[in-house]
Parts: sequence; structure tokens; C-alpha cells
Amino acid sequence: MSTSKDDILAALGKISSPDGAPLPATGKLSEIVVADGKIFFSITVDARAVEQWETVRDRAQQAVRALPGVQSVMVALTAERGASAGQGRGTPPRPQAPPAARPRPGGSPGGSAAPAPAGIPDVQAIIAVASGKGGVGKSTTAVNLALALRDLGLKVGILDADIYGPSMPKLLAIRERPQAIGGNRLRPIERFGMSVMSIGFLIEEETPMIWRGPMVMSALTQMLREVEWGALDVMVVDMPPGTGDAQLTMAQQVPLKGAVIVSTPQDLALIDARRGIAMFRRVNVPVLGIVENMSTFVCPQCGTRSDIFGHGGARREAERLGVPFLGEVPLDIVIREKSDSGSPVVATAPNTPQAQYYRDIAIRVRDGLAVSSRPTPKIVIEA
Ligand SMILES: Nc1ncnc2c1ncn2[C@@H]1O[C@H](COP(=O)(O)OP(=O)(O)OP(=O)(O)O)[C@@H](O)[C@H]1O
Ligand SMILES: [Mg+2]
Repeated sequence: MSTSKDDILAALGKISSPDGAPLPATGKLSEIVVADGKIFFSITVDARAVEQWETVRDRAQQAVRALPGVQSVMVALTAERGASAGQGRGTPPRPQAPPAARPRPGGSPGGSAAPAPAGIPDVQAIIAVASGKGGVGKSTTAVNLALALRDLGLKVGILDADIYGPSMPKLLAIRERPQAIGGNRLRPIERFGMSVMSIGFLIEEETPMIWRGPMVMSALTQMLREVEWGALDVMVVDMPPGTGDAQLTMAQQVPLKGAVIVSTPQDLALIDARRGIAMFRRVNVPVLGIVENMSTFVCPQCGTRSDIFGHGGARREAERLGVPFLGEVPLDIVIREKSDSGSPVVATAPNTPQAQYYRDIAIRVRDGLAVSSRPTPKIVIEA
């Protein structure tokens, strides 16, 4: 039996907005998408009223979920750009709760009462790929590192935590929406033998949105905990750029086993990398090491080497800070073209020097995590 939009609107009519109006009468509901028992819609609210609306969102989700024929419901709380000044990708919003150090076994003493986030059942290790600065190649590194870990026989997932500017739809050429699998859980998209989840799979690229702290956390929590990840050796989390409160809260809320910091070799980027390292140390997440991306440039025509952003800065910085240096990846046209066309180099040109850089990094990451491959890894490689 299929659920109609009228059934959904009738159920939502029993839910009141914070000022007492029935939800459908508020004008804040998006179009309701109904596909094979899976329901998606959003409630667009004033960014200043997000906290009051969070319970409305919950109640709406529960009411629709209770309707006959509904397999899953995803209700997003969003605020349109301009509803509140100064919010957006470059200036991540303040999270609801002030960030505080998370106590961990063996972590530094004196942390506040924030409890350690629960792990994800059957996921052995979650690692973040992060940087202080935008555009240094985090997402490219995250995807190719994940693929190289897959090639080591590990079962790998990728969680795109860049809610502000998700990259996975483009980097992995994913157009389809995740399917529901009963209850309110979603099946991640499978690509190149990895499970992938991104907010970009649920929201149209053109939808202009701003996110407030509570929304970011609710989206991230859903992608982490309401997705059927299955058994994974490693989940690679592609973090949004920056070291602001939003990133700190993410680093705190996701049960991370370690962080990989990506930096370009020049001083400015390294200052930001230092901030990134400090952020993870503050929440007691071990830094697995630094990757120097866009390290050197070798001219494909003449073979001349140019150190466009300098060279070796990240290695020196790693030594100075006492964290492992994981390796360098040159500035390379093949990496860029493959990355931007959704066919990452490690998956589609595995026998190239470009892929080898990532494999070397993956070995160090795996050893740093001390995770071992499962006895019978099942690897599906798509063309
Ligand atoms: N080693 C490399 N050689 C050439 N191009 C690269 C390399 N690494 C990344 N790029 C390119 O640089 C651009 C930015 O990379 P990417 O999106 O991975 O960065 P990011 O740090 O995730 O950015 P953001 O901060 O916006 O999330 C992309 O066009 C990507 O293809
Ligand atoms: Mg990115």
C-alpha cells in the first residue's frame, strides 16, 4: 500500500509549529517527495528559531513514519540563506552546546563532562581527513586514501561530513539517492567496493542552504547512525575545512580513532594544519599524521620539477610537532582530472605512480591504526 501526499499532510496537520499553527499551514514545508515508501521533505525555518523547531522536526518524522506503507522518512530542518546574516560555508555557525574536551581512556585529564560518543556497531575504526584550510585537497585525499585502504583488503566506508559543501556526489560521480531498508535506515551507496554516504545524495546541489549547529549535528548523526554501514574495517570521514566550533563539535561527536591532516607545503597552509592538529588534540583524538598534498609539480612534457607551493614543509612540521609524516602527493594534472570527473586515480588508474603515492600513505595509516584486514575481504570493483 502506498502512502499519498494527502495522507502525509493529514498526519502533519496534527503537529503544531512553535507558535501553534498546524505544520502544513505554516508555509514552511518543502515539496514532499514520496518514492517507494520513502519520504523526504524539509522544513525551512528562521535560523534564529532552530532550537524550537528541532522537536517539531522529530514529531513530524515520527508521525509520518507511523503511517501505513512508509518505509523510511528523512525530514531535514533547513534555513534559507539570508534568514540570518553572516552564516554560510566560510563562517560555520556556532554549535548548540559549547565545545568541550572529551574524556577518553588515556586522554588528558581535566576534560569536561561531555561523554565520549558511542561507537558504530561493527565499524572498527573511524578516521577523519581534515585540514585547517579549505581547498588543500582533503576530499581528493580522503577518496583516494579510502580506495587505497580498500586495496589493502580492508572493507571501507566514506562519510562525507562536509555538510556545507559535500564533495562525494562529484568525486565519485554518484547521482542516485540512497534506498531505505525498513524502519528509518538508509542503505549507503556502493561505489568502487566502498559504502558511501553524503548529504549531497539527499539534497539537490542547487538548494541554497545555511546550516545551524544543531542541524549540522542532526544531519551528521543521521548519516552516522541511521545508515546501514554494515561491517567496516575503516570509515574515512571527509571533514569540512576549518577549525571553528562546528568542526570541533564534529570531531567530538564522531567516535574518531584518529585524524589525518592534509596540508600544502607553504607556511600559510601549515599554520592552519597546526590549528587542525591542536583541535584534534584538544578533543583527545590521536593525529595519525600529516599528508603533504600538491607537494611538487613535475611537468608532464619536460619532466622539470617545480616546487610551486614549496616542498618538504609538511614533513618538517610533522617532525617539529612529533606526529608521523604520512607521505607526499605531487600537484598532478592526472589526479585533478580524474578526481573532478568522478573517477579517482586509485580506482581507475591503479598502476600509475599517482596511485602509488596514496597506497604508500594508506599503508602508514593502516599501520598507525593497527587494524587488520578481515579474513575474506569482499571487494567489488566497478568499471
Ligand atoms: N595532488 C593534487 N594534484 C592536482 N590537483 C589536486 C590535487 N589534490 C587536489 N587537487 C584538486 O584541487 C581541488 C581541491 O581539492 P579538494 O576538493 O579535494 O580540496 P578540499 O580540501 O576538500 O576542499 P574544501 O576545503 O573545499 O573541502 C580539486 O579541483 C582537486 O581535483
Ligand atoms: Mg572537501
